[in-house]
Amino acid sequence: MRAVGVIGAGQMGAGIAQVSASAGYHVYLSDIDLARAETGKAGIAKALGKLVEKEKITQPDAEALLARIEPVGSYAPMADAALIIEAATEREEIKRKIFEAVGTILGADAVLASNTSSIPITRLAQASSDPARFIGVHFFNPVPVMGLIEIIRGLATSDATVDLVRRYGEALGKQLVFANDAPGFIVNRVLMPMINEACFALGEGVASIRDIDTACRLGLNHPMGPLTLADFIGLDTCLEITNVLFTSTGDPKFRPAPLLQKYVEAGWYGRKVKRGFYDYNGEEPVPTR
Ligand code: 3HC
Repeated sequence: MRAVGVIGAGQMGAGIAQVSASAGYHVYLSDIDLARAETGKAGIAKALGKLVEKEKITQPDAEALLARIEPVGSYAPMADAALIIEAATEREEIKRKIFEAVGTILGADAVLASNTSSIPITRLAQASSDPARFIGVHFFNPVPVMGLIEIIRGLATSDATVDLVRRYGEALGKQLVFANDAPGFIVNRVLMPMINEACFALGEGVASIRDIDTACRLGLNHPMGPLTLADFIGLDTCLEITNVLFTSTGDPKFRPAPLLQKYVEAGWYGRKVKRGFYDYNGEEPVPTR
């Protein structure tokens, strides 16, 4: 396996491109146009620059890694990739369009994977050219730091597809876990109810934003409190996943907290727009209520 295609050059896609190139793969990186793919590569160059400063990698290694990342303006060059990973916006219609377009260039034995955080793999596979060669490969943010990949098998996914993805994940040095195609898979099934409950607690006046976060950070030994983590992931993404859990199971324990919905309606999506449960415009994050 020489080459990997990555579709989506945002935070997740760029991270996946970086770790794939770091494992020695040639990476074709695409987005809705070449300029965005190039911006994604520029972000990786910046992240590598910091690693060089910290002497985590050498300058020549950083340059060699970057040289393996090729921004592309169409899917055509990915025809020789053994694995194509989609990490586009978490909207089903966008992903479906991508899978239909990729189907026209996907190599005969190549595998198509989605980094979806919660959309059912079996359903997404229907938009691919061959559901046997379709699989979920779920990375965690920040991709270069987080040690896990969840692998999700759809109903039609073949053993050969699972094997190829297993070899890829091992080459990246990540720990792999295997989940069935159930809502939220493993991590989001457990994480989103915690974030949602923190939003209920805040909405009900149980404690302040800072105290909820401090309590979970120090009381549970989590690196970030749940409201800080929600800002980090994106409140829109958290709401989207919680809605998937709620609507696909019908279980009221997953109903989204009204306060989470309100923040999303306000456009306060978290760090990416500099405002969520905290305001990120100053030097230090300041709670917004
Ligand atoms: N890229 C590369 N490296 C990064 C990074 C990034 N974006 N962000 C931080 N790092 C590195 C730093 O360089 C530092 O490395 P060093 O120890 O070698 O110097 C190390 O990570 C620690 O970073 P910091 O000292 O800046 O800060 P923290 O100690 O607070 O760590 C964190 C930052 C790694 C983000 C940590 O707070 C953390 O693990 N938070 C929880 C993240 C998490 O839970 N992610 C999963 C979200 S759920 C998800 O992604 C699924 C999706 O479907 C929703």
